[in-house]
Amino acid sequence: VLTLALAAIGGYLLGSVPFGLVLTRAAGLGDIRTIGSGNIGATNVLRTGHKGLALATLLLDGGKGAIAVGLAALLTDGASHPILLAGFAAVLGHNYPVWLGFKGGKGVATTLGTLAAASWPVGIACGLTWLVVAAVFRISSAAALAALALAPLYAWYFAGPAAAVMALGLAAMGFHRHHANIARLLKGEEPRIGASRKSS
Ligand code: G3P
Repeated sequence: VLTLALAAIGGYLLGSVPFGLVLTRAAGLGDIRTIGSGNIGATNVLRTGHKGLALATLLLDGGKGAIAVGLAALLTDGASHPILLAGFAAVLGHNYPVWLGFKGGKGVATTLGTLAAASWPVGIACGLTWLVVAAVFRISSAAALAALALAPLYAWYFAGPAAAVMALGLAAMGFHRHHANIARLLKGEEPRIGASRKSS
């Protein structure tokens, strides 16, 4: 129980570092939460026009999920439940960070990093799904929703039932965090990748 609690708390704290907000603020761009969709993720950082910062946000937000999983694996000699819990907690930390009054991001990059570290075939399958949908529709949220929806199936196939349950939890949380995007998608108003948008 102590191991599980430590995995959850450690994962949450790692995940709660809002890199998109920190990087854009450090670059003097103001508060990312007042730009575009208001989200703190890489897609919205890209709307500032700073591709390098968006890439750094993507890698760091993904990396913190992977590190949470990697640390849990190291500290528990690869026990699967603490690893899955640490990864889930990292996404929870990103989406609901205590530092931002529990108003965080949508968890796409962190989910990908977490899944890739927990099971690389699952990470690759989700990453490819994101890329294919993004290439076809050029809409980040649609790509994310497709990858999230398929994540439990990929996890079941490549990593077994426990990973599938964790991926289902991540998918549910991800869909919940995308409710405004889903409404815009249904109205045909979701902006394409690269288009800048001043308000939402
Ligand atoms: O990664 C988040 C993405 O799916 C949507 O971001 O800023 O368009 O709401 P955004």
